[in-house]
Amino acid sequence: MQNHVQYQNLHLIKHPLIKHKISILRNKNTPSGIFRRLAEEITMLMIFEALRDLETEEISIETPLEKTTGEQIKGKKLVVMPVLRAGLAMVPAILQVIPSARVGHIGLARNEETLQPDCYYFKIPHSPEQREFVVTDPMLATGGSAAFAIRKLKESGAQKIRLMSIIGAPEGVQKLEKEHPDVPVFLAQLDRQLNDKGYILPGLGDAGDRMFGTVG
Ligand code: PRP
Ligand code: URA
Repeated sequence: MQNHVQYQNLHLIKHPLIKHKISILRNKNTPSGIFRRLAEEITMLMIFEALRDLETEEISIETPLEKTTGEQIKGKKLVVMPVLRAGLAMVPAILQVIPSARVGHIGLARNEETLQPDCYYFKIPHSPEQREFVVTDPMLATGGSAAFAIRKLKESGAQKIRLMSIIGAPEGVQKLEKEHPDVPVFLAQLDRQLNDKGYILPGLGDAGDRMFGTVG
């Protein structure tokens, strides 16, 4: 993993397997089932780096042979926070490595005219101020949806938030750097730009539609 030279908040997670899988994800002929599975596999490859700085605390353990000390993840259970719908595909991979994680949800639909997110659902566990939140959304385009989700979490008391996306545009990274400089952004790929409809180029199209086999 490396910090991006241009953006302080951006961590690009690079790996040959991730690059290979993103190429298949981008291909317009990749069917929904494989698309979902690839999003999950890429998340699995990213999560190790995205959670590298989680805090641990010392605990005592009794092995069958003697007493010793070990470490465990500190604090209340982490929360995975998918941005509906497309963020859902990234949840199972995180739950596989952190089975005890809680799952919050935020429902956002980007208005295709204004490109502003409409919020239709929000639910998180109690004591947000004591938890780590991992917001998942495979696409960071204008950054409007991610910035909204993070703002809503902060208004609810959350203090430790990170964003995991698969493909991002410079416009989205810049928006988050400006509005939420305290929130690290983990991406597998930084693409070139947005088109005039707010789609990432080269991108992969509409992630939610490709994932769930819907249109528009
Ligand atoms: C897509 C995507 C992000 C958002 C990114 O969701 O999954 O949430 O657009 O765009 P932005 O960075 O410009 O806000 P969409 O609103 O299409 O909803 P969906 O996942 O239900 O299809
Ligand atoms: N949302 C998507 O799903 N894809 C884009 O390229 C932009 C926003």
